[in-house]
Parts: sequence; structure tokens; C-alpha cells
Amino acid sequence: MAAALVWAMAVLALALAEGAGALDNGLAQTPPMGWLHWERFLCTTDCASAPHACVSEQLFMQMADLLAAEGWRDAGYEYVCIDDCWMAPSRDGGDRLQPDPQRFPHGIRQLADYVHSKGLKLGIYGDVGNKTCAGYPGSYGHYDLDAQTFADWGVDLLKFDGCYHGTLDLLAEGYKNMSLALNKTGRSIVYSCEWPFYMLPVQKPNYTEVKQYCNHWRNFADVFDAWISIKSILDWTASHQDIIVDVAGPGGWNDPDMLVIGNFGLSWDQQVTQMALWAIMAAPLFMSNDLRQISPQAKRLLQNKEVIAINQDPLGKQGYRITKDNNFELWERPLTGRAYAVAVVNRQEIGGPQLFAFATSFLGNGLACNPACSIQQILPTSEDYGLHNWVSFLKVKVNPTGTVLLKAAVIEEFPEEKLAPNSKKPSLDTL
Ligand code: GLA
Repeated sequence: MAAALVWAMAVLALALAEGAGALDNGLAQTPPMGWLHWERFLCTTDCASAPHACVSEQLFMQMADLLAAEGWRDAGYEYVCIDDCWMAPSRDGGDRLQPDPQRFPHGIRQLADYVHSKGLKLGIYGDVGNKTCAGYPGSYGHYDLDAQTFADWGVDLLKFDGCYHGTLDLLAEGYKNMSLALNKTGRSIVYSCEWPFYMLPVQKPNYTEVKQYCNHWRNFADVFDAWISIKSILDWTASHQDIIVDVAGPGGWNDPDMLVIGNFGLSWDQQVTQMALWAIMAAPLFMSNDLRQISPQAKRLLQNKEVIAINQDPLGKQGYRITKDNNFELWERPLTGRAYAVAVVNRQEIGGPQLFAFATSFLGNGLACNPACSIQQILPTSEDYGLHNWVSFLKVKVNPTGTVLLKAAVIEEFPEEKLAPNSKKPSLDTL
């Protein structure tokens, strides 16, 4: 009896200790998904010359309409998020932030109501320092008031930037104070930080602390619509995986920045790579594109249920790069039910599709296909690879800068005769 009590108390203490590790607002149990205006629409404020691209209530209402009507919300994209440049150049008479009156004539409260009426949530943007990155009023000295204003408006997510933060101490204090201020409002507001990103050039972030205050956090430079941007984010993530991967989990996620799929700068294969690797990295999925003009192919990729299921896997473990071999990279992510998502990236930018062969014993520390597993290809197309065992080999063909995304599901009992015929060690001439 006494032993049972001690055991129960130990379990409780462990649960409390774990709970203390993440921002305790119950949100972001899986990586948040939605749409964010920045990469595609930037700080376009001149609605006379760019009526369809300026940062205005109309833009967010149109995106909300499309998110609800065209399958996005049902696929999981829930947050419609405003980035920088929504504000009027100064605070109101009561020191409150206010939206630009020309571009948001009905105010944020009404926009939030509209977004909510579509079954969606509204995100907004602020800055820890004196000014936002684009020069609009910052929240420094007004954390409580701004948090309360956002809550009064019915905001559901805050992206809190770090420009003009002053010292590193002010940066840390500001991020923590805003987190507490949001909590005090009693409204559920996802808190998206850039704290580590502004800290990293000077000092190593304490990620345990970051996770105690933020639901997700940027570590690296802004994404832009080009392959060089995507590969630099992947390279940064892989080279820092020993520090950042274990921190991520339900309630707090590393944020490699927006999905730029459906824009102008990435080839089809590069878009597949971004989608596959953002799923492996357990990344928040915020698209920054124009949902009024998006190709059916990009839409299918962004709404692919199997990839989204990997991204949203309830185990909440971030994936990592297992190996880099010549121009190939092999990444994996542990999933619920001892399954693994596996990404093979071809980093060679010359020539045509390349074959890459690897042993299943590489996966899951040798456990992913032990004693056997069934393997499905999820991207770029869906394909069944059949049954494999712990001594099988896999051979995949990957386009330059593209990715093959697989899922391996462990099978406890397997009949040897059902093994896929192509799973034997490949001879060199078949490669
Ligand atoms: C910073 C952020 C971007 C965006 C801009 C807005 O650069 O990293 O994501 O919010 O500010 O000015």
C-alpha cells in the first residue's frame, strides 16, 4: 500500500515537472496551422495602387472565406494571421494600439467576429521592443494593456516579434512579461515568439525556459520564396538538432517559418521538399501565399492528409537528420504506434533523378522495421512499397532538390514469403 502511494506521488511529481516544461495554456498540443500574410504580402499599405494585395481587413476576410470554403479549414488550417503593418502609426488617446483606420475601417473586433463566424481563429502581430520591425508602435512598456486589448478584440494568436528590443535582458523580460500578460487575460491565445532568433547572435538560448513561455519560437532568418532559403533553414536545423529537437513537444514547437508553397520561387520538387520536411520537423504550418490564385497542384500538396497527419502526429516528437551521404540526406521522425516518417532529400542540383539505396536498419535505431514493417510512399505521389524486414534494403528515386517521403509502420508478425521482392540488398549494377 505504502509502496503504491510512493509510486503514485512519484508519478504525480513527474507529471507536474513535465507540465512545468511547457507554456501552461493548454494550446498548441500539435503544431498550429493557418495562414500568415507576411512572406507573400509584406508591408503593402497603399491600397489605391494595390487594392488586392494591401494589408487590409478585406484581404483577411477573403482569406477566411477561402479557408472555410475550399477545404483548408477542414484540412487543419485554422488561424488567419495578420503580420506587421496593420497598425495606425500611433496609439489612441487611451494608449491602446489601434488599426490603420483606412485599411481596417471596421476594427479588429469585427474582423475577429467575421473570422470566428467562419469557424476560424484570428492571429495578430506585435513587437517586444519600442517599434515593430516595420516601424509601427511596439509593446514595450504596454505589455498588459496590449494583451488585454488583443483579448478584448477576440484575438486567438499573437506573433510577437523582437525588433528594437534593446538589451538581451529586456528581450527576455519582455517575452516573459507578454506571456504572463496574455495568461492574465484569461483568453486562450497562442503565443508565437522570435526570442531565440534575436538572442542567438549573442548568446545561446535556454530552450527549456523559452518553452515555458512560448507555444512556438523562431530560431532562424525569415523564409523567402527561393530554394536557397529553404535549404538554409534545413541546414541550420540539422546542424542545431542536438540542441533544439528534444525541446519540441506538445505545447511548444520550433518554428522554421512560413510555408511558401503556391508562390513563384520554388520548383514543384522544392515545394514537395518544403512540405515533407516541415512535417518531419513538427513545424507550425502557416502558409503565406494567395489562396485566390493557387495552382491545383500546390493546393493538393498543402492539403495532403497523410503529410498533415505526420506533421500533426500526437506523439509530438520532432524529427532529425540521420545521415548525409554525398548529396543525399536521410531524415526521420518517430510517430505514434512505433511508426516512422522518413524523408530522402536529393541535394544534388545537377543532373537528373538519382537512386538512393539504404538499409531499413538505418531507421529508428534499427527498430522501425524490426521484425518487419510495411512502407508507404506519401510524397511526391502515393505508392505502396510492401512489406520489409530488418535486413531489407530500400531503393528510392529522387529528383534534384526533391524529396521522397515515406512512412514505415512496424508489423509484429510477418510471413517471410510476403516480403516485397525488391527488398533484397541491391547489387551495384542495379543502382
Ligand atoms: C521580422 C519577422 C518576420 C516579419 C517581419 C515584419 O523580420 O521575422 O517574420 O514578421 O519582421 O516586419
